[in-house]
Amino acid sequence: MKRASSRLRTRPVLSGLLAAALAAPIAWAAPPPPGTSAGDLAAERAFVDALMARMTLAEKLGQLNQPPAVGNNTGPAAMAGSEDQVRSGAIGSWLGTHGAELTCRLQRIAVEESRLGIPLLYAYDVIHGMRTTFPVPLGEASSFDPDEARNAARVAAVEATAHGVHWTYAPMVDIARDPRWGRVVEGAGEDPYLGAVFAAARVRGFQGDDLAAPDTLLATAKHFVGYGAAEGGRDYNIAEIPERTLREVYLPPFEAAVDAGAQSIMAAFNEVGGVPMHAHKPLIQDLLRAQWGWDGVLVSDYTGVLELVEHGVAADREAAGRLGLAAGVDVDMVSNIYLKDLPAAVEAGRVPMAEVDASVRRVLNAKFRLGLFEDPYRYCKDPARQQAMTLTPEHRAAARRMAQKSMVLLENEGEVLPLSKSLGTLAVIGPLADEPWAMLGNWVGIGRPQDAVTPLAALKQALGDRTKLVVAKGADIDSDDTSGFERAVRAARSADAVVMFLGEHPEMSAEANNRTSLDLPGVQEQLALAVAATGKPVVVVLLNGRPLSTGALQGEVPAILEAWFPGIEGGNAIVDVLFGDVNPSGKLPVTVPRNVGQVPIYYAHRNTGRPPDKDNKYTSKYIDVPWTPLYPFGHGLSYTTFRYDPPAVARATLPGDDLAQQVSVRVTNTGKRAGTEVVQLYVRDDVASVTRPVRQLRGFRRVELQPGESRVVTFELGHDDFAMYDLDMKRVVEPGTFTVFAGGDSQASQSARFEVEAP
Ligand code: BGC
Repeated sequence: MKRASSRLRTRPVLSGLLAAALAAPIAWAAPPPPGTSAGDLAAERAFVDALMARMTLAEKLGQLNQPPAVGNNTGPAAMAGSEDQVRSGAIGSWLGTHGAELTCRLQRIAVEESRLGIPLLYAYDVIHGMRTTFPVPLGEASSFDPDEARNAARVAAVEATAHGVHWTYAPMVDIARDPRWGRVVEGAGEDPYLGAVFAAARVRGFQGDDLAAPDTLLATAKHFVGYGAAEGGRDYNIAEIPERTLREVYLPPFEAAVDAGAQSIMAAFNEVGGVPMHAHKPLIQDLLRAQWGWDGVLVSDYTGVLELVEHGVAADREAAGRLGLAAGVDVDMVSNIYLKDLPAAVEAGRVPMAEVDASVRRVLNAKFRLGLFEDPYRYCKDPARQQAMTLTPEHRAAARRMAQKSMVLLENEGEVLPLSKSLGTLAVIGPLADEPWAMLGNWVGIGRPQDAVTPLAALKQALGDRTKLVVAKGADIDSDDTSGFERAVRAARSADAVVMFLGEHPEMSAEANNRTSLDLPGVQEQLALAVAATGKPVVVVLLNGRPLSTGALQGEVPAILEAWFPGIEGGNAIVDVLFGDVNPSGKLPVTVPRNVGQVPIYYAHRNTGRPPDKDNKYTSKYIDVPWTPLYPFGHGLSYTTFRYDPPAVARATLPGDDLAQQVSVRVTNTGKRAGTEVVQLYVRDDVASVTRPVRQLRGFRRVELQPGESRVVTFELGHDDFAMYDLDMKRVVEPGTFTVFAGGDSQASQSARFEVEAP
């Protein structure tokens, strides 16, 4: 919900007049033969060569220019004068413009009234749903279910493309190890392996199998790179990242996105090692393009090119443009520098034409791959589709499933959960019990609060007249007013059980929403403690966008369910879990600190020469809180229990030139209910030439087990699972012993060891 435009709506239908206009002939001489768009590189090259041969410098720079849409109360509208800009070929793509009618109207101007008829690209931040809002990405990652995440992205793509959108600025694949940073909510958490798996799944979901299909769009892996390492958790801040950490932690999700075929990458606002990412030739041109062989479109972040001036590496706009283009930033989002300031620079020879051409080619390639030269109206010409494909029952069902899987049961002392469906009275307390907007979270596309089912609405629906609901807000999210406590405590006393809905406002996480505290805002913690003091069975449901340090509730509140911002079906999904229709299976994709002072804290840390030892003061700890987290990465309870046998490795010794290993672990449901466990496998390189993380996630599997049922889960490991960057920054597997750990969280203690021999 960052900019006004993202909250706005568009009119769903295409007028008859417009539909007729779409039948008019297209301006360019020879459209590519039908069906050549997806994957026919020779056809693409021939077509783009011929087109570029006819383009003026101004038309070329126009292709690299991306202005923002301006919203009004019926939806994003073109800016005043922008239609003339489209006509003159000065706009290649548009940020935030959506809606079948509007996109078709502007496309018609581009195709029929501009000299070369090059179609526009429409880009939009479709982050966790277009209209059907899914859980926030951090919540989705808690599912440890990449297939479900892929499906969520597919649904978002279907709805977005029906609104004329060609290009989403998702997935955000930044690793985040500092929960003060508001954008922790937009990614898959702290771990590069989990992050890579989710990056690939989301890219595949958005882009589908055929980019030229009318329901697939360009995915953008963002923000390249190191954005999550912002110092102090302060958005946009500089990042100090040693090369090894960059390679092992921050780059892997981008590489996975590239391997999955991501057609676009966005540069990050931060600098790395003194070089702002919008000017980072070594990382963009040398690594991304030359080494990884990636040929997609690199888009700047919002005014990212202009910001090179504030970074202090460019004296003026033109210098900023020169740096950006030379670094390989193809599309200039919002700065308007490529369009306005580069023509003179190119003409005077300060910018090589070859640099312009390389970027223009990549933009035109993207348009070709989407099939826009075959049919520029394929995304918007069927006005009925926008209505038919939006907020369908199937999409809602998918959002509910994802929300169910994303919930993490943090505590469940005395098996307070699941609640009985035959409670006489249930108290519903807290500021987030009935706030539709709070279900959505931030970055909601065209999602609407009216579509959201709140927990209170879902409780009423599920319990009907059987259970009396007593409702008390107790407190606001972020105020120091405790005057509502008394009523809340009274409500709790009158009830058989209490459910509290506490957390953050959606505007407390995502872009520029950083906090220096990880505590529940306002007086919510005191409210929970006051209610818990009644001695009633109390369940706290958290709705929030970052890990929260709720340690004060431990031992006081028996059950805590982390629901994140769960999307429009969140209320239903919460109720499904509270009453046991769904057994929770989510796991934390981030470590939850005891307090903000522990940050950064993450499970895959290196050991130091003095690992924490409670009996030895002079080891790496604190004197005021334990060094361990409140909840470890991978933690999440179930209504049943699971037992792990020690893992078994297939081979005790691996020859250095044959690193295929299998690790098997038997897991048994030892409780009384069916449940799904996320079996996790961690690897440790015991001794190496450089220090290694104490363990690293290298596999996970969701396994559904009936009571008493056992299953052996087998993980295939190989070179990449054992590799590291050595002293010379070479990626190698060093001989020696490796330990594997299997279990239900990152503190899993069951282990096995094997040896890798020298090659
Ligand atoms: C954000 C990006 C986003 C872009 C366009 C920027 O401020 O950093 O993540 O895609 O705006 O809305």
